[in-house]
Amino acid sequence: MSRKPATREVARAVFLCSACGNESPKWFGRCPHCGEWNTAVEESRARPAAGAARGYAGPGEKPLRLDEIAGEGLEERWATGIGELDRVLGGGLVPGSLVLIGGDPGIGKSTLALEMAAALGGSGRSVLYVSGEESPRQAKMRAERIALRRGLDHLWVQSEIELDAILRQVESLGPSLLVIDSIQTLHLGSLEGAPGSVTQVRECGLRLLRFAKERGLPVLLIVHVTKDGAVAGPRTLEHMVDAVLYLEGDARHGYRILSAAKNRFGSTNEIGVFEMRGDGLVEVANPSELLLRDRAAVAPGSVVVAAMEGTRPLLTEVQALVAPTHFANPQRVAQGVDGKRLAVLLAVLEKRARLSLSGCDVFVSVAGGIRLDEPAADLGVALALASSFRDAALPADWVAIGEVGLAGELRPVPQLDRRLSEAARLGFQTAVVPRSRTEEVPSGETPPIALAAAGSLSEAIDVALPKRPAEPRRPAAGPDRRAERPGGGKAGD
Ligand code: TYD
Ligand code: MG
Repeated sequence: MSRKPATREVARAVFLCSACGNESPKWFGRCPHCGEWNTAVEESRARPAAGAARGYAGPGEKPLRLDEIAGEGLEERWATGIGELDRVLGGGLVPGSLVLIGGDPGIGKSTLALEMAAALGGSGRSVLYVSGEESPRQAKMRAERIALRRGLDHLWVQSEIELDAILRQVESLGPSLLVIDSIQTLHLGSLEGAPGSVTQVRECGLRLLRFAKERGLPVLLIVHVTKDGAVAGPRTLEHMVDAVLYLEGDARHGYRILSAAKNRFGSTNEIGVFEMRGDGLVEVANPSELLLRDRAAVAPGSVVVAAMEGTRPLLTEVQALVAPTHFANPQRVAQGVDGKRLAVLLAVLEKRARLSLSGCDVFVSVAGGIRLDEPAADLGVALALASSFRDAALPADWVAIGEVGLAGELRPVPQLDRRLSEAARLGFQTAVVPRSRTEEVPSGETPPIALAAAGSLSEAIDVALPKRPAEPRRPAAGPDRRAERPGGGKAGD
């Protein structure tokens, strides 16, 4: 990260790492600083102004004692009114914060930013929405498409890419929020390089950071990020902003998941779920219902798990497919589940539950683009694998909750009661849970759902997938007791 002293003013070619911003006079295949491969981009560059340091550096020359610093309004947050967004932000937007929203092109960042701007406008705060990609007319078309009615009189739109001009507008207009769509289009005339180059992105980010902190003006920065990191710069930005939100989604489904990779003012566990519809991004208050909506009735390899996303229980389907391999090295493909965790579960299934999976290709995927990083999802993943291997389905109204240990034991998970209530609310009848935890349910209280307790993974497999003599599979239209319960249809169908 070191910078050589600015002795020459002549523009010169340098190679910058698009991941960490490391600068080198020579091309490199692997960044000597952060170790990433193929991140070198060539830029011709003049030295930025002497004050352009890294991070926030002002105001004040001397340190301040904590009790001297004015503390009023520290807890102030502006709720945007979009519940799913507020949840991820940690309760609302913090004045003076720099928030980055990243995501693939076309995922819905501009739509979300415009909805947020309008929501804040509706509560009387003015917003300047600067777009370097779209004309004001296009912004208006989008606003009409998403039927924005409230807050339009507080929403200002400008097409501009020159950062100095934007900041002058901010000074004269004095908005409560500045939205920049996107940072890759910003340009500082004092620097060499086209918009989107590492230097421009980094220096524009720094300039905005200072500006935001000095004036207490929150800034929402939109950043395009592509999977292969082809866009130079954004990752250096992540270190300097207060919060990094990612909008991701499954292109086939309309779901969009907003999560925080970093948040100085809140938890990074929360996610917000949206659905992209013809009339904009619409919040999904009950994501479990949405995630389970497309679930096939009863299928081998499908298990519903009750995970926690931050403070909220989330029920989602894990699917596994285990099939004999035609390769020397069997395939292991995981989507939504950590590949290493899958390898551990496969080894435990092989060794402790005596399922010979080593000659099989294994594919695991989680519905709706959700990532299950929680150990509590282990049991569901393992049961899905066992279910596909045996070609036997779990009953459609069962859920699985539990961590699997290396000895094949089931371990208790936090917040079991909340997961169970959510499962019961969605019409599930039985939960497979670690045995140690069922004893903790006070005797006076009946759990909201029947508990099938198991001490080990192989016991759980026996409980959930009892070995039956081969019987013809029931037709899907057959009598089904779930259908009689309100809400039960959703969970299983
Ligand atoms: P957009 O917000 O422009 O994405 P980004 O800023 O991340 O590039 O969203 C573009 C996509 O969203 C585009 O494919 C059209 C779709 N869309 C809808 O389906 N409904 C809507 O109401 C809007 C505004 C966009
Ligand atoms: Mg856009």
